[in-house]
Amino acid sequence: MHIATISSEMVPFAKTGGLADVCGALPAALEQIGCKCSCFLPAYRQVMRSGMRIESTDITFTVYLAGNHVACRLLKSHYPGSNVDVYLIDQPRYFDRDGLYAGPQGEYKDNCERFSFFCRSVVEAIDRLNLDIDIVHCHDWQAGLVPAYVRTRFGHYPWMQRAKTIMTIHNLAYQGRFWHLDMPLTGLDWRYFNHQQMEFHGDLNLMKTGIVFADNVSTVSPTYAKEITEPGLGCGLEDILKGRGEHLVGIVNGVDYQKWDPQIDSHLSQCYSAADWETGKAACKKALQAELGMTLAPDAPLIGIVSRLADQKGWDLIIPVLERWVANRDVQWAVLGTGDPRYEEQLQALASQRPDKLGARFEFSETLAHQIEAGSDMFLMPSRYEPCGLNQLYSLKYGCVPLVHTTGGLADTVLDSSEENVSKSVANGFHFNDYSQDGLESVLNRAIDTYSFNRDRWRQIVINGMQADWSWKHSASEYMKLFRYTMDGQLRGA
Ligand code: ADP
Ligand code: GLC
Repeated sequence: MHIATISSEMVPFAKTGGLADVCGALPAALEQIGCKCSCFLPAYRQVMRSGMRIESTDITFTVYLAGNHVACRLLKSHYPGSNVDVYLIDQPRYFDRDGLYAGPQGEYKDNCERFSFFCRSVVEAIDRLNLDIDIVHCHDWQAGLVPAYVRTRFGHYPWMQRAKTIMTIHNLAYQGRFWHLDMPLTGLDWRYFNHQQMEFHGDLNLMKTGIVFADNVSTVSPTYAKEITEPGLGCGLEDILKGRGEHLVGIVNGVDYQKWDPQIDSHLSQCYSAADWETGKAACKKALQAELGMTLAPDAPLIGIVSRLADQKGWDLIIPVLERWVANRDVQWAVLGTGDPRYEEQLQALASQRPDKLGARFEFSETLAHQIEAGSDMFLMPSRYEPCGLNQLYSLKYGCVPLVHTTGGLADTVLDSSEENVSKSVANGFHFNDYSQDGLESVLNRAIDTYSFNRDRWRQIVINGMQADWSWKHSASEYMKLFRYTMDGQLRGA
C-alpha cells in the first residue's frame, strides 16, 4: 500500500509542536509494517537549514494561482533510518521565512495563498513523480484542500481515480479560516463555497473543507473524537463532524522510543531503566536543578512543564497557582516553553523572585525537554483541551508521573491513582476533572502527598507508567486498519 503523507511539519525538518513528531514517526512505523510512504512538506527556511541532506530533482512546474503563474521546484530528502521519501515543495517567496506560519507581526497575511500553493503543488508533484498512491493522508488545515482536489478530480490527474483520502485533525482550534475573497486561490469553483462544504460563517475554512471532502476523518484520540462532536471543543464544526458519524475515528499517537527512552537517551547525565530509576532519576534531578540554578534539594518534589505558552495548555490556571506555591510551598518547578509573551513575562517575574524554586527557560530546546522529563518527579499538563498530547507519554516512560486535566488524549492515556486503579495496579498518574485553580491545586496536593508520605504507592505508580508500551507499533496498525477499510470503501467496523 502506498501512502502519501501531506503535512506542514515533520521532524527533523520543521517543527513547532507534536504534529511534527507524528508526521515523522508515523510514516516510518507504517513502513515497518509493509507500506511505502512518500511525504510532502514545504521547503521552509527551517528545512533548508536543518542540516538534512537535500537533493534536487529535475522536476519543476508552475501553478496557476488566481491570475499568477507561480514556479515550484521539487526537492527530495529522506526520513533518517528509513526508506521514507520526503518531497519538499520549494518556492522561496512563500517559504523562505523565519517562521512556519507567523512572524514578529503575527500570522502571515498570505497563509491561504501559501498553503493553497502547497496543496496544488503536491497534487501536481504526485502526477509528475508518477506515484501510484492508494491513500492520501492529509494532516490539519494546511493540507485540507487536497481531499477536495481528489474528490472533485481537480486537474483530471489519473492518480486521483484510485486514491482515497483521510483527513487527520490534530487540533480543531486551528482551522485555516480566511476571508471569502481568498476562494479563487484554491482554484476550486465557487459552487463549493456553500455551508455544507467550504464556507463557514461567510469565510473560507480549510479544515472544514478537508473534513467534508475526505473519505474518512480521524483525530488523535478516541475521547477527542467524541469531544469535537459537541459544542465547545467542536469549535463550530461539531455538526459537520457529527454528520460524518461512523467516518470519524480516534487513534492515539505513539512515541518514538528511539528518541524518548531513558535507557538510551544521550541528553541525560545518567541513563536509567525501570530497574534502577530511583538512583538514575536522583542523578538527573540534581543535574537539572544545577542546570536551572535552583537549590540542590533531593527531597523537594520537582514538577516539570514543557509546553507551548498557549491558552490551550492551561496557563491561565498554572500562573496564579504558581504565584501562591512559589511563595508558600516547598516545591520546585522546571519550566520550558515558548509562545505568548504575556505568559513569558509572568513566568520570568516569578523566576526572578524565587530562582531557588523556579527555573524557567523560554526557548526551543530538545535537550532540556529530555532533561526535564528525566529530572522531574512529576509532569504537569493541565490542558484546557488536548487532542492527544505527547509529553504525558514521554513522562510515563521517564518515570515522571503525569498530573493532567481529564480531557482528550490525556484521559485516554493517563490512569488516575484512584483507590480502584491502585488496587488493580493500573494507576500511572493523577487526574482532575474540574478545570479550575481549585481542581489544579487538588491534583497537586494529592500527588505531593503520595510522593512524600506513601513511597511504596509512588513507586508502583512510576513503574506502571514506565512499563506501559506506547510505541508507534500499535498506533500504526490502527492506521493500517483505517487505510484498509478506506480503500474498501467500507464504514468503520463493517
Ligand atoms: P502540542 O503539539 O499541542 O504542542 P504535544 O504534547 O503533542 O503538544 O507535543 C509537543 C511537542 O513539542 C513535544 O515533542 C514537546 O517535547 C515539544 N516541545 C514543546 N515545547 C518545547 C520547547 N520549548 N522545547 C523543546 N520541545 C518542546
Ligand atoms: C496537536 C495537539 C496535540 C497532539 C499533536 C500531535 O498539536 O495539540 O494534542 O498531540 O497535535 O497529534
